[in-house]
Amino acid sequence: MNLDQIKATITTVPDYPKPGIQFRDVTTLMQHDAAFKACIHHLAARFDDLKVDKVAGTEARGFVFGAPLAMALSVGFVPIRKANKLPRAVIRQEYELEYGKDMLELHRDAVQPGDRILLIDDLLATGGTMLATAALVRQLGGVVEDAGFVVDLPALGGRARLQEAGIRCHTLCQFEGD
Ligand code: PRP
Ligand code: MG
Repeated sequence: MNLDQIKATITTVPDYPKPGIQFRDVTTLMQHDAAFKACIHHLAARFDDLKVDKVAGTEARGFVFGAPLAMALSVGFVPIRKANKLPRAVIRQEYELEYGKDMLELHRDAVQPGDRILLIDDLLATGGTMLATAALVRQLGGVVEDAGFVVDLPALGGRARLQEAGIRCHTLCQFEGD
């Protein structure tokens, strides 16, 4: 499947979670065997040359795409989790949501200094989640150069924010006008 065909499996839900928002629901892509497989294939082709040491994915939807991509690249997977889920020593990073704040955590021994880490999430909106993810990896001495997403919402400005932080973004599909 090409990228347009993959994009066509994503469902737009109008007025969710509130009036005026067009929610891009990737669960219908995940459920579509050929689209899901093609999505991982396209990401793997894009990142194969980077020769990263690990893929890190951000809970929850970043796990769905990050773990199979790590397998496709034959590297390990690092889960970046929401607060109070990891059992051993962690570092924490707070980040802004539209209303309020949330927290991401990473096991202290999950990244070694100098490790080259590819960051993966399902969707880039404001970039706040990915900036927090990158901050955690960098705090442990990991090297972050690239972040990959299935969906980009360019109107929300995430790409520019990540570029300012020295992170290159790769996205498979864009939805304009959000
Ligand atoms: C969603 C999405 C991205 C993030 C993008 O996650 O999966 O992680 O928002 O938004 P941003 O670029 O403005 O930070 P969310 O925290 O809603 O939940 P989930 O992944 O646990 O479903
Ligand atoms: Mg998420």
